Amino acid sequence: MRIAILSRNKNLHSIRRLLKEARELKVHCDVIDPLDCQLIVDGAQTRLLNGAKVVPDYDVVLPRIGASITDYGLAVVRQFEVQGTFVINSSRAIAESRDKMRSLQILASSGIRVPASVLTRHMAGLKKAFVHLKGMPVVMKVIQGTQGVGVMLVNTPISLASVWESMQGLGQDVILQQFISEGAGRDFRAFVVGNRVVAAMMRTATAGEFRSNIHQGGEGTLITLPRIYQQVALKAARVLGLEIAGVDIMQSHDGPLVLEVNSSPGFEGIEKATGLNIAKAILKHMIAKSRENRRSRRGQYASSLWDGLEKGTGQLKVERKKTTKKAAKKISKKKPLKARKSVPSKKVSKKKV
Ligand SMILES: Nc1ncnc2c1ncn2[C@@H]1O[C@H](COP(=O)(O)OP(=O)(O)O)[C@@H](O)[C@H]1O
Ligand SMILES: [Mg+2]
Repeated sequence: MRIAILSRNKNLHSIRRLLKEARELKVHCDVIDPLDCQLIVDGAQTRLLNGAKVVPDYDVVLPRIGASITDYGLAVVRQFEVQGTFVINSSRAIAESRDKMRSLQILASSGIRVPASVLTRHMAGLKKAFVHLKGMPVVMKVIQGTQGVGVMLVNTPISLASVWESMQGLGQDVILQQFISEGAGRDFRAFVVGNRVVAAMMRTATAGEFRSNIHQGGEGTLITLPRIYQQVALKAARVLGLEIAGVDIMQSHDGPLVLEVNSSPGFEGIEKATGLNIAKAILKHMIAKSRENRRSRRGQYASSLWDGLEKGTGQLKVERKKTTKKAAKKISKKKPLKARKSVPSKKVSKKKV
């Protein structure tokens, strides 16, 4: 099993943890800096180079692309995908979840409750927005922000208009969002791997702060997430097509509201808060999924080959003999085949995963 992690920095906590757990699981794991990759599309062929070298085959690739290199990073992920490499999370899911407005649209249209949100480019639209946002204060968010950066609380209509205008002047669209006052300063982070919430923590903001992100000084505590929150988190990850996700949920008078879904959630804070081994859960899931994917691709290949042969489009000519009743009886009486003695296998030794 060969895994590649796409990340700019080998020394990040999450990457160090993944490398350590990969060693424990005896899985080969490389870290590739996406900015070192060259993407070549030449005629009908695509190639991917890391520096001067062709990137070798991997069973599965894990993109951990920072917000600052989203576009280039996603182009690299797509190059892996078009070359047939299995990727968790997919480029599409990462792109959709990273755009806060896009993800709110997908979540809301899938029946998942989100805070009332407005995106507008007109000053006149701002005034109407108050009706939807139920008055002041409102939360303003840059579309591609992360770790609480670019999330602001605006208290008066005058400051809202001036901050909004400044952001427009900088070419930055912002989402205006209803301030969930009843749950302010606290949210829940559910860490989803596959179809399980593998860990959850409650994050509490420091005094005087409304953002509960760990990077903004928030404190994480282990909790058992109520069932309804777990279901919401799993559904949010599923509708966005994310296998690995950090779902931020706030408690409101109307029940759980999803703030956002992170496609490369860090896990230093949640591992510390919960004592759970998130890195191992991620790797085990990737290994299982990649095996599943390989099996289903083999199945598809076999059936497409067979189809081709049946339709006479394949190059090989195979005569399919009809199995007579007599022949079938003969086959069923045959002794089961014995396993061949020590078949040297290049793939994986028994101990390895
Ligand atoms: N509508 C809101 N009402 C109250 N608090 C909010 C709201 N939106 C965000 N927050 C607070 O700000 C934090 C960061 O917001 P979020 O949308 O998750 O952006 P980021 O991607 O930067 O983490 C949240 O964890 C929450 O504590
Ligand atoms: Mg968040």
